[in-house]
Amino acid sequence: TAPELLRNFCIIAHIDHGKSTLADRMLQLTGVVDARAMRAQYLDRMDIERERGITIKSQAVRMPWAVAGPDGATQPYALNMIDTPGHVDFTYEVSRSLAACEGAVLLVDAAQGIEAQTLANLYLAMENDLAIIPVLNKIDLPAAQPEKYAEEIAGLVGGDPADVMRVSGKTGEGVEALLDRIVDVVPAPTGDASAPARAMIFDSVYDTYRGVVTYVRVVDGHLSPRERIAMMSTRATHELLEIGVISPEPIPTSGLGVGEVGYLITGVKDVRQSKVGDTVTNAGKPATESLGGYQDPKPMVFSGLYPIDGSDYPVLRDALDRLKLNDAALLYEPETSVALGFGFRVGFLGLLHLEIVRERLEREFDLDLISTAPNVVYDVTMEDRSVITVTNPSEFPGGKIKEVREPVVKATILAPSEFIGAIMELCQTRRGDLQGMDYLSADRVEMRYTLPLAEIVFDFFDQLKSRTRGYASLDYEPSGEQVADLVKVDILLQGEQVDAFSAIVHKDKAYAYGVMMAGKLKDLIPRQQFEVPIQAAIGSRVIARETIRAIRKDVLAKCYGGDISRKRKLLEKQKEGKKRMKTIGRVDVPQEAFIAALSSE
Ligand code: GTP
Repeated sequence: TAPELLRNFCIIAHIDHGKSTLADRMLQLTGVVDARAMRAQYLDRMDIERERGITIKSQAVRMPWAVAGPDGATQPYALNMIDTPGHVDFTYEVSRSLAACEGAVLLVDAAQGIEAQTLANLYLAMENDLAIIPVLNKIDLPAAQPEKYAEEIAGLVGGDPADVMRVSGKTGEGVEALLDRIVDVVPAPTGDASAPARAMIFDSVYDTYRGVVTYVRVVDGHLSPRERIAMMSTRATHELLEIGVISPEPIPTSGLGVGEVGYLITGVKDVRQSKVGDTVTNAGKPATESLGGYQDPKPMVFSGLYPIDGSDYPVLRDALDRLKLNDAALLYEPETSVALGFGFRVGFLGLLHLEIVRERLEREFDLDLISTAPNVVYDVTMEDRSVITVTNPSEFPGGKIKEVREPVVKATILAPSEFIGAIMELCQTRRGDLQGMDYLSADRVEMRYTLPLAEIVFDFFDQLKSRTRGYASLDYEPSGEQVADLVKVDILLQGEQVDAFSAIVHKDKAYAYGVMMAGKLKDLIPRQQFEVPIQAAIGSRVIARETIRAIRKDVLAKCYGGDISRKRKLLEKQKEGKKRMKTIGRVDVPQEAFIAALSSE
C-alpha cells in the first residue's frame, strides 16, 4: 500500500477503560473479523492476559477502511492498529509501540475520567509528536459524565471540549465516525523508499511452531521475503523466511515498504536475538544509522524463587529457560539459601512483571514456588572505594561502608482532591518528596513525588488504593539513584542467621522491621524440645528478641495407651511432617512458616 493510504495508530487507555472492547468493535466494523468468529478480546492472546484483563504483549492488526475522497470516489485506506501495554512495568515497550505510530486515540472512560497511567502515556505520545484523538468511551453507561470529562481532557490536550469524540465500544455507537476521524487526522507515514531499509522492532514473541515472530514498522526502504536481513545493534544476519501483515491472522506478503507495519520470521528461537527497539536493515545494502532509542531492558526488582519441593529444581530451571525465550527482560541466576535450598535469583521490570512470571511458572509448568520478599538493587561503595552491586540482601557487605545508593522513581498520583491529606501522609512514611501538584479540574488533582523504589515495591499501591477508597491511580518512572542511610537487618534462630529473612531497610525503620519479623516467626515456628531465641540484629548488635519456649513433643501421650494402629499412624504422620521441615541449626522450621513469614500480609 502506498504511504498516502496508510494510517498507523495506537490506543492509549487505562486498564478497564475499554480498549480491548473498542479494538474488537473496530475489527468487526472493518470486516477483519466477522461477528460469528468474534470472540471477546480477540487481541489478547495469552490466557493470563484474558483472565486478568491486562495486555502484556503488543500486537498489530491491519484493517481496511474505505473513505470517500473529495471527488466522491472511495479511497481504500489501510489502518494499522498497534496495541500498547498499559502498565508501568512495561513503559519501554509502550514507548516503542508509540514510536511506530503517527497518531494515538486517547480513550477515557466517560464515567471515570483520566488516570495516572493514561496521563503518563499521553505525555509519551506528545513527546513523540503523535496526533492525539481524544475519545470518551462507554457513553452508554448511565453514570457517564461526558461533559465533565470532555472539559478535563480538553484542558490537557488543548482544543474544544465539543471536539472530544463520544463512543461506546459496547454498542458500537460513534466507532465508524472514529475510524473516519483517524483517516482524517492521523498523518500518513513518510520515508525514503529508495534508501536502505530501516525497520523498528516494536515487539517480538516466541511461537512454539514458528520460532520468534518479530513485529516491525518500516521507516525507509523495503524488506522482501528470502533476502538476508541484519540486526543493527548486534550486526547478526538472518534469512527472512516470511514477511507479512496480521489481519487478524498472519498473511504472508511480497514484502513491506515505507510506513508499513507487519511481522517477520527468521527461524531464530530466542527473542533476545530480535530485540524490541532494535533496527532491522538489508544485510546486502545496510543502512549506516540505526533508528535510535534502543535500550536493554533493565531489571529493577529482584526476588528469590525456590521450588517448595526441592526435587522440582530442574523443572524450575527448564521453565525459566522456556519463559526467557519470550521475555527479553527476564534475568536469573542460580542461588542457594540455607533456609530454602536451591533456587534462582530473578530480576524483573517491576512487581507486576514478577507476579506474571510467577503465575506462569506455577500454572504452565505446574510448580509450587516460594518467592522471597522483593528487593531493589543497591550500589554499595566501600571505604576502599570498591563498589558492590547488591541484588540479594544477604550479600550486603559487612565491612567498612562509605555509602549506599538506592534507585529512586518519579511518581505521578491522580486522585480526587479530598484525598490529598491521606496521600501526603502515606508518601511521607515512605520517604517521599513532593515535587508539585496541579488541579486537573475543580475536584481532581495530580501530585508528583520522588520516592525510593524500595518503598513502592512493598505494598505501596495497595495502601494508596485503600486510603483513597480505590480512587487514586499511580504511575512511576525510574529517576536515578540517591544516597540513603540503609542497613541490613538479619534474623537469627538460636544464633543461626536465616538468609531468606535478611532485609535492607532504612535506619529509621530497622527496629520496626526487626520487631515485626521476630514476632511473626514466634507465632509461626512450633515449639521445640528446647528453648529457641529469635533475634533481629544489625551486624552484631541485637535490636529485637523473642523466645519460643521449650516443649516436650510427645505425640503418643495423647493416645492414652491402647490403640496401637492409631499410634503407628501418628508416628507416620510425624515422620511425614519432618520431611517438610527445614532444619536451621537444630531448629525444625516448617515450610509453611517460611511462606507465611515471607508473604507481605
Ligand atoms: P485492559 O485490557 O485491561 O487494558 O482493559 P481494556 O481497557 O481493554 O478494557 P475492556 O475492553 O476489557 O473493558 C473493560 C470493561 O468495560 C469490560 O467489562 C467491558 O465489558 C466494559 N466496557 C468496555 N467498553 C464499554 C462500553 O462502551 N460501554 C459499557 N457499558 N461497558 C464497556
